[in-house]
Amino acid sequence: PRPILLTRHGESQDNVRGRIGGDTAISEAGELYSKKLAKFVGKRLKSERAASIWTSTLQRTILTASPIVGFPKIQWRALDEINAGVCDGMTYAEIKKNMPEEYESRKMDKLRYRYPRGESYLDVIQRLEPVIIELERQRAPVVVISHQAVLRALYAYFADRPLNEIPHIEVPLHTIIEIQMGVIGVQEKRYKLMD
Ligand code: G3H
Repeated sequence: PRPILLTRHGESQDNVRGRIGGDTAISEAGELYSKKLAKFVGKRLKSERAASIWTSTLQRTILTASPIVGFPKIQWRALDEINAGVCDGMTYAEIKKNMPEEYESRKMDKLRYRYPRGESYLDVIQRLEPVIIELERQRAPVVVISHQAVLRALYAYFADRPLNEIPHIEVPLHTIIEIQMGVIGVQEKRYKLMD
């Protein structure tokens, strides 16, 4: 069985400010996580010469991957965070105050709600299809460094969770979810590298 390691990027400047979307760098805590992650990956995949590191095209995932050495890195636009459209860069409080109808519609149906000029969870699930096909095809381990909404969808695929749950699955920061694809099915381990 070969592992797939799923992780969010280290904490970003926007995470600290509570802003969604954006393309900020990682915070000091995020940098610490990137180093711990590199150490973990180095140990866990020591003898796995064909392993690879997949990130999104956003700074925070690329920076999180940067201390990892010895494995090829691939950037996927399909791994970018859900596009919040006109709400990109806002806090949830600002959306609630300035665009109350949008806020309410999203609360009512988070799976299908599409941000104006942005995406819905269903859109994200659809654009992940080529990533999933490629992950299934890989024989070697893959480390996927991506974002909360995207990882919810990827995790749900491997853990066989229903569509409606996807927008609510917890994918905490600074935690690695290891998925083992074996003959007896899928097994999961979690490693919390920081508090
Ligand atoms: O910035 C976007 C978040 O990672 C997605 O979270 O879908 O729960 O608002 P949400």
